[in-house]
Formats: sequence, C-alpha cells, structure tokens
Amino acid sequence: MWPKKLSSMLVLMLFLHTLFVKGVFCLRLTELRVPSGVKQGAPVWLYCGYDLEKDDLYSVKWYKNHVEFYRYLPSDEPPGQKYDLLGVHINLNKSNQTHVYLEKTDLNSEGSYGCEVSTEAPSYRTVKADKDMTVYVLPEGKPRIDGIDGMYEIGDYVNLTCVSKPSKPAAVLSWTINSQQVDERFLTPMITERHPDGLESTILGLQFQVTLNHFNKGVMTVRCTATISQNYYSHSEETLLGERLKSASPDASFGHNEAGPKITGGQTRYHVGDIVDVNCTSARDVRPAELHWFINDRKAKSDYIIKYSDIKYVDNTVSAVLGLKFRVHQEHFLSDGLRLKCTATVSRVIGTSSKETVVGNLRQSSGLHVSENSGSALNHGSGCYLQAWLLWCLVVLLLSVTD
Ligand SMILES: *[C@@H]1O[C@H](CO)[C@@H](O)[C@H](O)[C@H]1NC(C)=O
Ligand SMILES: *[C@@H]1O[C@H](CO)[C@@H](O)[C@H](O)[C@H]1NC(C)=O
Ligand SMILES: *[C@@H]1O[C@H](CO)[C@@H](O)[C@H](O)[C@H]1NC(C)=O
Ligand SMILES: *[C@@H]1O[C@H](CO)[C@@H](O)[C@H](O)[C@H]1NC(C)=O
Repeated sequence: MWPKKLSSMLVLMLFLHTLFVKGVFCLRLTELRVPSGVKQGAPVWLYCGYDLEKDDLYSVKWYKNHVEFYRYLPSDEPPGQKYDLLGVHINLNKSNQTHVYLEKTDLNSEGSYGCEVSTEAPSYRTVKADKDMTVYVLPEGKPRIDGIDGMYEIGDYVNLTCVSKPSKPAAVLSWTINSQQVDERFLTPMITERHPDGLESTILGLQFQVTLNHFNKGVMTVRCTATISQNYYSHSEETLLGERLKSASPDASFGHNEAGPKITGGQTRYHVGDIVDVNCTSARDVRPAELHWFINDRKAKSDYIIKYSDIKYVDNTVSAVLGLKFRVHQEHFLSDGLRLKCTATVSRVIGTSSKETVVGNLRQSSGLHVSENSGSALNHGSGCYLQAWLLWCLVVLLLSVTD
C-alpha cells in the first residue's frame, strides 16, 4: 500500500520538477536582430540575445539559408570559428557569443539569417530563430528620357521613353506633365530589364498629342520619377493547444518581434467545437501594413477573415487590423497543436530620383522673342508674356480689320 502511494507521489514530484525547472525556467531566445534591409556594401551587425537561466552555454551557431557559417563554442580554442559561405564576409575578431560582424555585404548576402543556441548537459536544450535580410542597391543617377524631338507645339505627337538606372529592387516609374500625374492611357506598359550583375532597369513610355492644356503659363515640362521601395515582412505566430496536447512547443515562446504584428484575443487552450476569435494588429506605421492569416501554414479561408478598418493614431500613424474567426475542427490539430500565423508586409520608399525637362515653350515658338534670362522667372510673371502675346495678336488682328 505505502510503496505504491510513495511511487505515485514521486512520479508527480518528478513531473512538477520537469514542468517548473525545465519547462518554465529554461533557455530562451530574447531577441534576434537582423536588419531587414541593408544597402549593398554596408557592414552589418547581427545580434542573438538569449537567456540561459542558470544553464551553461554549449554553442551558438549562425546559419544563412540553413547553412552554418559561424559557431561559438566556449570549450573550443579559439571559441569562434567561421565557415566560408558566398556573400558572408564575417570578421571573427569582432564576433562573439552574442554578436556577429559582417564587414561588408553584396547581392549574395541576401537571405534568411538564423541563430541557434544550445545548452550543456544535463538539459541539452536548443532554441532557434531566423529572420530575412534583403540587400538593396540605389540607382546611380537620374533616369534617362529618350525621344525628345526639339520643342513641341500644339498638335505635335510626343513619344518619350523613360529608362531608370540599374537598381535592386527595380524602380517604379511615373510621369508628370507640369507636375500633374499623367493618365494611365497615355502610358505604355512598364517593362523591367535585367542586367547580368543582377540589377534591373525599368522602362516606361509616354505618348500623347499636345493640346493647349499641356501648357502651364506657356511652358510644358515633363518629369519622370523613379521610386525604389522595399517590402518589409514580419510575422507573429501562436500555438494554441488542443485537448490531446500536454505541453507547449519550445519555440512558441519566441515569436514576438517588436516591429511585427500582434495577435490578440486568443486562449491558450481550445477544444474541437470551440470558436477561435482573434485579431492581428500591425505595428504603428505611416501606412497600414497588408495582413494575412495562416492556419498551420496554410492561408486561411476567406470566410474565416473579418476585415476591420484601420486604427488611426494622433501622430498620423496607422495600424491595420484583420480578424480571424472559425470553429475548431479535429483536422485543425496537428501533432504540435493548432498554429496561427499572421504576416504583415509594409512597403517603404528607400530612394527616389527624377529627371525633368522643358519640352514645349509657347513663348519661344510665338515669334515674339523672349530674352534668355526670363527662364529664371518661370513661376512668376511668365503668364504675362502669354497675355502680352495674345494682346499683340489682337492688335494685329484689329489693325488688319480696320485696314
Ligand atoms: C584579427 O586580429 C588579428 C590579431 O589581432 C589580426 O592579425 C587579424 O588581421 C585580424 N583579422 C581581421 C579580419 O581583422
Ligand atoms: C560581443 O561583442 C559586442 C560588440 O563588439 C560587445 O558589445 C559585447 O560586449 C561582446 N560580448 C561579450 C560577452 O564579450
Ligand atoms: C515611340 O517610340 C518608340 C521608340 O523610339 C518606337 O518604337 C515606337 O514605335 C514609337 N511609337 C509611336 C506610336 O510612334
Ligand atoms: C478585433 O478588433 C475589432 C476592431 O478593432 C474589435 O471590434 C473586436 O472586438 C476585436 N476582436 C477581438 C477578438 O479582439
């Protein structure tokens, strides 16, 4: 009788010991710092923050696209070692158990950077996380405008082509006439040209017939602007436990990311038949992020999605909100629980450059010669020249009538 009770007590104590000593107080990643975008050539610091919780460090390993390029083992001499990898220019002298220094970057440096931390015996725990880094290249110079055929007059057909200098990602081009956005129907489809070095140029044509409306104070100016934007992607993930599950997956504690979206409203435990009703809210930004929900890595059905309006803050920033609501079915539970993931994509302009050219000038084509230096006073009083020209025409007309 006694030994049986004692052994079940022991089992219970062992269970509690595992839960509290190993399960709650254990190795965890606190932060993974990998820049989401870096200018080609620039150096990069990577940081892997972890909390050993009384355990001893066995190793820290860094991976690019799941291939190891650096490891730090305190027991090794020297503790830091690197493995050559295309695009990874690591400086061992500046790297240690938490930091990795990449002296420079090139287009091959782009990829997913992961950090893996393991502890010594007796716990032998391993935690891992990764983040994407993209490398961008801004264009060296303004876009080029081809096809200008002297000064255009009313009735002339204009056929111009704008070509951006190579960049990564490719530029998005836009045309304006006298600072007014050009209607889509006067544009040719945008074409992207790939260069052998991996950079891209964008080509956009502008075609229209000149009318008086294309002149502002007698002048027609066209401008082509190249905008380079980068998409920043972040995500949050939550594992909800089912009735068949007993413990959380070790990685579930590391899913938060200060710039990532937040998942709210979820409970930790769900049963088949329960309703999951959660929200995903993007980090505050000047523009709302594009949000998407995934259930066990599969895009959530559209009838599970609830669209809410953006939250607007007083400092002119906004957060996008996307709801997810569905009834839990048996098939939603995989071996590691029901995983909900919300992804946020924000697009940020990282560079613009534009080329502006005067392609029409009614004052110069009128025959009434305007002195060269009037060009500097374009915005002010140039309208008077047009009026003077009209007045002059009227006088000629009147004179010829009275003749
Ligand atoms: C690292 O330091 C050693 C000795 O101080 C030096 O010889 C070596 O050139 C350094 N390496 C780099 C990549 O800076
Ligand atoms: C690792 O290197 C970073 C950057 O040089 C430094 O700030 C940090 O203190 C170093 N950590 C240790 C434990 O030496
Ligand atoms: C416009 O110019 C391009 C390039 O010079 C040429 O290929 C195209 O045929 C022209 N389009 C028209 C309508 O003239
Ligand atoms: C989700 O957000 C919307 C709008 O902000 C709110 O009305 C709703 O109650 C939220 N739902 C949950 C489950 O938090």
